[in-house]
Amino acid sequence: MQLTNEEQEILDGKQGEAKQKAMQLLVALGDIYGARRLIPIKSVQIGGVSYKNIGDAGIDFIKVFAETGAKVSVPTTLNPAGCDIQQWKETGISENFYKKQKEIIDSFTSMGIESTCTCTPYLVGNRPKLGDHVSWAESSAVVFANSVLGARTNREGGPSTIASAIIGKTPEYGYHLDENRKATFLVKVDFDLNDIMDYGLLGAFIGKKIQSAVPAFKLKSKPSEDQLKALGAAMAAWGAVALFYVENSTPEFILSENVEEIIVAEENLEEMRKQITTTNNVQLLTTGCPHASLDELRNISEMLKDKKMEKPFWIYTARKTKETADEKGYVEIIEKSGAKILCDCCPIVSPIEEQFSSTATNSGKCAFYLPGHSKQKVLIQKLSEMIK
Ligand code: F3S
Repeated sequence: MQLTNEEQEILDGKQGEAKQKAMQLLVALGDIYGARRLIPIKSVQIGGVSYKNIGDAGIDFIKVFAETGAKVSVPTTLNPAGCDIQQWKETGISENFYKKQKEIIDSFTSMGIESTCTCTPYLVGNRPKLGDHVSWAESSAVVFANSVLGARTNREGGPSTIASAIIGKTPEYGYHLDENRKATFLVKVDFDLNDIMDYGLLGAFIGKKIQSAVPAFKLKSKPSEDQLKALGAAMAAWGAVALFYVENSTPEFILSENVEEIIVAEENLEEMRKQITTTNNVQLLTTGCPHASLDELRNISEMLKDKKMEKPFWIYTARKTKETADEKGYVEIIEKSGAKILCDCCPIVSPIEEQFSSTATNSGKCAFYLPGHSKQKVLIQKLSEMIK
């Protein structure tokens, strides 16, 4: 990879150990993927934040940077952690787990990183614009940034995002290059998708079928931003989709010369629903994967008005989104029903398996990870089926 004089100086250690380590990591990555150079980025979303996922080895890795005084050089946000930092006791998290999680977040914040832990950074201030290059981890955030916002990022991991945050650059390959951003599948859906769950099922069906390819959709009606969020997250989980287009919805719609057509029938989604569902009797109800938007919280509060939930109902969102929802009165209505709004964490990266063995979700992505990552039997259902 071709380095500028300043980049070479950093690599030679002339700007300190932390920057040198970060540069070594980016250069190694660039060499592996055949990048020609490093390019400046507008923001970073750091992956590998939950103690459940990274363990003690992860803490040691972050400390290598944090304890040598490393600071980030671009706006940087964090992925969900393993527990709600304020309500950890109420959700059955052990003190040891909380302390380890706090240590991780403190290490990150000492580097100048915002402490908000969310997979929807684009809803709370870290929202890149069309054409911006960024370095993001977390597959649902990545696919949203590339597709719904028209930014450019690869599916990064924990170490590469830390390195990019310190240097402010990323190797130029993959989705940073226009030639890799053309759809090779054209997906036609000519029936109504009415619910967030329907978009999750469609994402699961297409992700499973096309894996890491780029799909372009022709849908019957224009989806909302929350529906696009659900569709992308499910495709990223069931396949490894990092970019998609929806005609008349996403800011770009770029097809390659030869596209393969896929026609989706309603039965395909019904089959997907059957395949995902492994129980009809759950202990825990969840929503907010990816983290719920303000609009989703408003909708949930309307559905929960004057109701009492019989089972635990945990709603995941970003702390800043919850604060705004609180100002609008949604939080009070939701909590009055017995439901909990949890921040900083999610049902996959938190140890819910220590308390529950079966969970309902309206998310295609959550349904994919619940069995393996959180040892849950799964019921995928609409919010209107959870809240009766
Ligand atoms: Fe977000 Fe966790 Fe789902 S990170 S997308 S809520 S699995």
